[in-house]
Amino acid sequence: MEGEKETKQNGQNTLENQPDSQPTTLSKNAKKKLLKQQKWEAKKAEKKAQTKEQKKKEGERKRKEWEEKLSSCASEEERLKLIESRRELRKERMGKRAEEKEEKTQRLRKAKEFGLNIVIDLEFADLMTDSEIHSLVQQIIYCYAVNRRCASPGHLWLTGCSGEMENQLQRLSGFDRWIIEKESQSYIEALQDQKENLVYLTADSETALDELDLKKIYIVGGLVDRNRWKGLTMKKANEQGIQTAKLPISSYLKMSSSQVLTVNQVVEILLKFVETKDWKASFFQVIPQRKRGETDPEEPERVDREELEDEDDEGEPSEKKKQCDEVPSAQLN
Ligand SMILES: C[S@@+](CC[C@H](N)C(=O)[O-])C[C@H]1O[C@@H](n2cnc3c(N)ncnc32)[C@H](O)[C@@H]1O
Repeated sequence: MEGEKETKQNGQNTLENQPDSQPTTLSKNAKKKLLKQQKWEAKKAEKKAQTKEQKKKEGERKRKEWEEKLSSCASEEERLKLIESRRELRKERMGKRAEEKEEKTQRLRKAKEFGLNIVIDLEFADLMTDSEIHSLVQQIIYCYAVNRRCASPGHLWLTGCSGEMENQLQRLSGFDRWIIEKESQSYIEALQDQKENLVYLTADSETALDELDLKKIYIVGGLVDRNRWKGLTMKKANEQGIQTAKLPISSYLKMSSSQVLTVNQVVEILLKFVETKDWKASFFQVIPQRKRGETDPEEPERVDREELEDEDDEGEPSEKKKQCDEVPSAQLN
């Protein structure tokens, strides 16, 4: 592992950080991937600018409408009434929001006792480039946001949360208020009395999950590696003598590429399964269509991400969540 750590690069989109290779020119396949990623990034920037412009226009339209409404008032009394009713409406809306927020908080607190235990293992920072660490942080934000919205949230852990990973997470506004277990120790130390219940989720396992067991603790590798570190988590779990399992993807889907998913996709699938008890529905709702080989006429509707993007509290900037949702295919390992 020591030798592997030395391969950390500075966030460049080249394939030069292959574990056993010297810097080389990009292969045809890598060039294609890079081009695809660049196109995706350009499209994303364009979309972001368009959304910003639309929001600005909408704000201006509403302001104008309000001013017209005010100026059409027949008397000062009517004008004051209108202002007051708008103030009341706002107050009501804010009260409702605060109520919803409180409900979410209560659900998260309850999840500590009754929720599915999901650990994100953050011990791989040394194996990632800066941009990959950044991506992982975005995925963690997304996991937290999705969990917070769940009717039956999971009990989320961040273990091995130290060094660069911790620095990056601490920089998020509101991170200190997250209702999540933050643990600087490794899961193997922090949860040593529960070793027999630890299950490392890894696409390389021979065991496919059937059910989820609330007594177990499911570990997801906090790694964005563009498939550079093949088999790494499987090796780690085997060395530690803990159980492994993969998601039962092949029983339900024919994927167009590998079955290695991103951290946020895996966490979201687990949460969906808790809610639906249906692997197929969970896969269809979370795995992007471009990664699924075939379309299915019975495909359920995709979850409404817009709703998630509207929320802007507890250090969860909406744009960040969007970035996580649409991880470019180059990052899908
Ligand atoms: C981007 S993958 C990292 C792949 C990495 N090369 C490895 O060895 O695990 C992030 C994490 O998501 C989880 N994961 C991804 N696809 C999975 C699958 N099909 N089944 C179970 N877990 C999966 C694993 O915990 C994995 O470590």
